[in-house]
Amino acid sequence: MAEQLRSPDGQQEKREGFAKDELMDWLNEHNPERVSHLFQEADHIRKVYMGDEVHIRGIIEFSNYCRKNCLYCGLRNSNDQLIRYRMNLEEIFQAAQEAKRLDFKTVVLQSGEDPFYSAEDIGFLVQRIKKNLNLAVTLCLGERTYEDYRKFREAGADRYLLKFETSSPCLFNRLKPDSSYPERLRCLEWLKELGYQVGSGNMVGLPHQTLESLAEDILLFQELNLDMIGIGPFIPHPDTPLKDARKGELETVLKVVALTRLVTRNTHIPATTAVGTLYPAGRQKALQCGANVIMPNATPMEFRRHYQIYPNKICLNESPQNCRFCIEAMVTSLGRKVAANFGHTVKSQTLPSRQG
Ligand code: SAM
Ligand code: SF4
Ligand code: FES
Repeated sequence: MAEQLRSPDGQQEKREGFAKDELMDWLNEHNPERVSHLFQEADHIRKVYMGDEVHIRGIIEFSNYCRKNCLYCGLRNSNDQLIRYRMNLEEIFQAAQEAKRLDFKTVVLQSGEDPFYSAEDIGFLVQRIKKNLNLAVTLCLGERTYEDYRKFREAGADRYLLKFETSSPCLFNRLKPDSSYPERLRCLEWLKELGYQVGSGNMVGLPHQTLESLAEDILLFQELNLDMIGIGPFIPHPDTPLKDARKGELETVLKVVALTRLVTRNTHIPATTAVGTLYPAGRQKALQCGANVIMPNATPMEFRRHYQIYPNKICLNESPQNCRFCIEAMVTSLGRKVAANFGHTVKSQTLPSRQG
């Protein structure tokens, strides 16, 4: 059985790191009282290290073209059922302008791996957003060259999100046939070296993924000393080779969120859109077991319906303004507060004392 999360006197949180066996025990734990204890403890650690503020980042999904063929993703190159779109640089800037008007502090520019946009295009866009809108800019464009990452950073990009998806090289190679696991990790190293705040993450419930593999994902999060960690369920898409696979389970996703909070302490952890798609109150639940960030959709309505990485994605018929208001209400209803600052990494700050 897993060790207690508090010291025997109940006053102090567990200090030492988690061993793989212990993480696996928790992932395997089905006693509702103990699972709820895990979630409460993660919520407590989130409060101690990150406070009650929730950071809101607006995602602009600016292109659904992708050169890759990840087995799980609806944007995969071979999916000919998808209506493809590309927003031009002016349209992307206008979407960022709207995000600014709605009081977002960060925009996340996300796309399939689309070489149509040169490093100069992205650099120009980032520079324009930084100069005119004073927003934090996160990029999520997949694998690019070191030189491209360098140009984006020089243009002012603050953060980069690149999930490793699974820490099992074997599973990775099967699911991402045109990527390589070592190269993905090397991209993460480059991003760190270039001074980005680096985000990574995984999917929970991938076909053939084991609890041991999930425990290893959590240990890899810790080892990489990430600034952000996105954890979402795998949701099968009907137009992909994984259409008949089972989706990830809510409780397992929440346990991975909670354990990641306990292990990494002061990392930004979003309540992902995927967990909100899996279960209507999924994001609220994630915010109550370790998450402190939420990333509503800030893509203009005419485009967002075509960015279906998985089916029935939430908010497809909402405007950026509706999503912004919805999130404000959600955060407030949980007794939390929307942060008024950029929500940069707190990794370099002195850790608070670990009193329970
Ligand atoms: N193309 C870039 C990349 O792959 O890093 C960024 C965009 S990609 C659509 C963003 C994320 O979507 C991936 O990191 C992956 O975790 C997630 N994703 C893709 N297909 C999914 C699915 N079927 N279920 C859940 N998440 C999925
Ligand atoms: Fe392309 Fe990213 Fe989807 Fe893979 S996960 S097919 S790289 S958009
Ligand atoms: Fe889009 Fe709730 S976040 S409507």
